Amino acid sequence: MSVMTKTTAEATGGQLYQPILCKIVSKRDLTPMEKLFRIEMPEGLELGHRPGQFVQVSILGYGEAPISISSSPTRKGYFELGVRNAGTLTGAMHALNEGDKIGIRGPFGTFFDVEKLAGKDLVLIAGGCGLAPMRSLLQYCQDRPSEFGKLTILYGAKTPADRLYKEDLLEWSKSDTFACSYAVDGVSGNECFDEGQIGLITVLIPPLSLDVQNTVAVIVGPPIMYRFVIAELKKKGLAEEQIIVSLERYMKCGVGKCGHCAIEHTYCCIDGPVFWLNQISNLKGAI
Ligand SMILES: Cc1cc2nc3c(=O)[nH]c(=O)nc-3n(C[C@H](O)[C@H](O)[C@H](O)COP(=O)(O)OP(=O)(O)OC[C@H]3O[C@@H](n4cnc5c(N)ncnc54)[C@H](O)[C@@H]3O)c2cc1C
Ligand code: FES
Repeated sequence: MSVMTKTTAEATGGQLYQPILCKIVSKRDLTPMEKLFRIEMPEGLELGHRPGQFVQVSILGYGEAPISISSSPTRKGYFELGVRNAGTLTGAMHALNEGDKIGIRGPFGTFFDVEKLAGKDLVLIAGGCGLAPMRSLLQYCQDRPSEFGKLTILYGAKTPADRLYKEDLLEWSKSDTFACSYAVDGVSGNECFDEGQIGLITVLIPPLSLDVQNTVAVIVGPPIMYRFVIAELKKKGLAEEQIIVSLERYMKCGVGKCGHCAIEHTYCCIDGPVFWLNQISNLKGAI
């Protein structure tokens, strides 16, 4: 017997402002600063997200914050959020336990359009916390590799200890689905790093052998990373029409009403966070 499920948009009648209470079913450390939460919707509901989208997470008395969905819609029955303890809401969330509830609005924002990317070679480039939104696309590719051409992952972090999703990184590098290259800016104390190179993430780009006509690069990371990574990709022959970026801006409403996330006339919450580079390269301050 098939079980009917509704998406959050259907359940709230398209209501953008009404959070749905969802249960934390597991919580585990990614690093001392970041935790991974697995969340379940109430019975009969599913989030109905696409890779690259975000939700607004709320806890009574602590406000709300946008958090990227870190798992693929191909993994059913739950979704995951990788959360850094950065302030009021995220600090309160880190203190919650299995069985506790959080409010969820969304999913919101533009997404990595996997239908448009079908058949393409993808170079998936994540820096630091950028692996959180990228992971939803990586898991999608892992679950449906036949939809794409060659899949390459580049991931850079400050130190080995700062690397998120270490188990996934190991699994992806062992799998036949991905070609993986990892880097760290440096090591501290008695740390050692034998899974890749020491240097900024840009050192991983020149050695790539690309079928330039059929390649799309996707970049998610800290603001400083974009300019340098884009310059290296252009040196390899990629045009702006072949580069996708996901941008992070301070947000409040998440639904295009408050203007907090505006870059000129573009609202990061509804026009983004995922953009083709040629859509935004003329926007002052976007990159
Ligand atoms: C689309 C999107 C996706 C995101 N995904 C994730 C994710 O997957 N995981 C994750 O951990 N984080 C993610 N973030 C970042 C997260 O939403 C922020 O760090 C958020 O501020 C945390 O809320 P908080 O209440 O815990 O922190 P806050 O108490 O808001 O403080 C966090 C930091 O923001 C600064 N700040 C506060 N107000 C302002 C303001 N008006 N302007 C500029 N800076 C301000 C504070 O000084 C502090 O340094 C995402 C953000 C966006 C826009
Ligand atoms: S966050 Fe309010 S308009 Fe984008």
